[in-house]
Amino acid sequence: MAKEFPLVTAEVKPISTKFRKLSGSVPNRATIEQIERLREAESVSMRGQPPVIWDRAEGVNVYDAHGNMWLDFSSGVLVTNAGHGHKRIADAIIRQASKPLLTSYCFPNQPRIDLMRKLLSLAPRPLNKVFVLSTGAEATECALKLMRTHGRKTGTDAKSIIVSFDNSFHGRTLGAQQMGGVGSGSAWIKNLDPEIVHVPFPDGFRCEDTSFKLFETTLERLRIEPKNVAGVISETYQGVGPNFMPMQYAKDLRAWCTAHGALLCFDEVQAGFGRCGTLWGFELYDVVPDLFCIGKGFSSSLPISGVIGRQDVMDLYGPNEMTSTHSGNPVCCAAALASIEVIEQEKLVQNAAHVGRTLQECLQQIKSEFSDVIGFAPGAGLVAGLLMVKKGTRDPDYELAWNIVNLCFRKGLLMFAPVGVGGGCVKIAPPLCISEDAVREGCQVIREAVQEAVQQIPVSNL
Ligand SMILES: Cc1ncc(COP(=O)(O)O)c(C=O)c1O
Repeated sequence: MAKEFPLVTAEVKPISTKFRKLSGSVPNRATIEQIERLREAESVSMRGQPPVIWDRAEGVNVYDAHGNMWLDFSSGVLVTNAGHGHKRIADAIIRQASKPLLTSYCFPNQPRIDLMRKLLSLAPRPLNKVFVLSTGAEATECALKLMRTHGRKTGTDAKSIIVSFDNSFHGRTLGAQQMGGVGSGSAWIKNLDPEIVHVPFPDGFRCEDTSFKLFETTLERLRIEPKNVAGVISETYQGVGPNFMPMQYAKDLRAWCTAHGALLCFDEVQAGFGRCGTLWGFELYDVVPDLFCIGKGFSSSLPISGVIGRQDVMDLYGPNEMTSTHSGNPVCCAAALASIEVIEQEKLVQNAAHVGRTLQECLQQIKSEFSDVIGFAPGAGLVAGLLMVKKGTRDPDYELAWNIVNLCFRKGLLMFAPVGVGGGCVKIAPPLCISEDAVREGCQVIREAVQEAVQQIPVSNL
């Protein structure tokens, strides 16, 4: 089970900079009392993050109700691409809510019409149809259904196999979790779908063989005939790293799918809407999938997700056969449209590319300074990870990663609890509106935290 951040009062060293403001006890007694009330009512699964009650959040900052301000390197969990609490998004929500039109089921509403047209203008051809849902897991489940339906429609009944990747994450519902490649995530499922299989992800660190041959030989080993593969799904980058596939691998994968009539689906729930310094993450690979999933940064705020794909795939189901109650909710659509407009008008994709270079450079410097405990520091644009390892090995060091996140929190830099293989990844993902100064200041905090955390390692581990 993941560690809990301590619910005890502890004085912080006072900090007051343009981006961070902390003083007194963090958490203080009032915060602890409220969190304890929450814990009495809520399942344990909702715990696990540093103990701050978010009171408001704007731009790159998160505030509590006691005058403390954190520089945010989490974007929630890669949600607030346009920045926290953007006025234009908040106004769009307020305008729509006060019309009032809060829901319309699948009856058309104007924000949905405008959003669908907008997405269509942004999707690469031949992808020309959109379907919206509420959560990322719903989007990946929908992609699974579409890939399988397409496979069996275009091939025999056996064309039903879904290939996914080790260490992938696609959400926590039944199908999404089985596509996910973290074994422990699907341990609760008794009858695992034998037609969802996993191949190694060519990250170059945990899997050093980055040739596409490994994909083919793994399928051979699993006795899978390519003609029976309905679809291949991969996160555009794996959230656990972030791990990217080599461009050549992506191109070979694209060609393989085309050759065998399998659909290629990228899960862009994290990578979409500018995170990697390109509007869509798959632009990094110079390939176009047959369909892709979106979520998180889609609205920078309210829950909305979706699948974008080729018409022949997206129109496999007839009227009312694929819908969900909140598909295309007018308030969520208004928020998403406003978020996309902010991303465009404030040139946040370009900012992610530009400021992202500084982020990646700073993290590489930290990695070279602490190369014995940082095994890998992958990233692109404004997403990155520091993969903490037990000294001189590639074994993840969860304790060290956790200490770094905790120390950063106590220095006014907010990140979510470590993720990834063995919990060793300190994940960095600020809002895309971040400035170069803020990136540098945040990285300086990380550097200090790594140094202090390393010094806390018991002598026996050094
Ligand atoms: C790549 C990816 N796909 C799907 C999901 C699931 O999204 P949600 O939590 O909105 O269901 C996530 C969430 O972290 C994700 O990172």
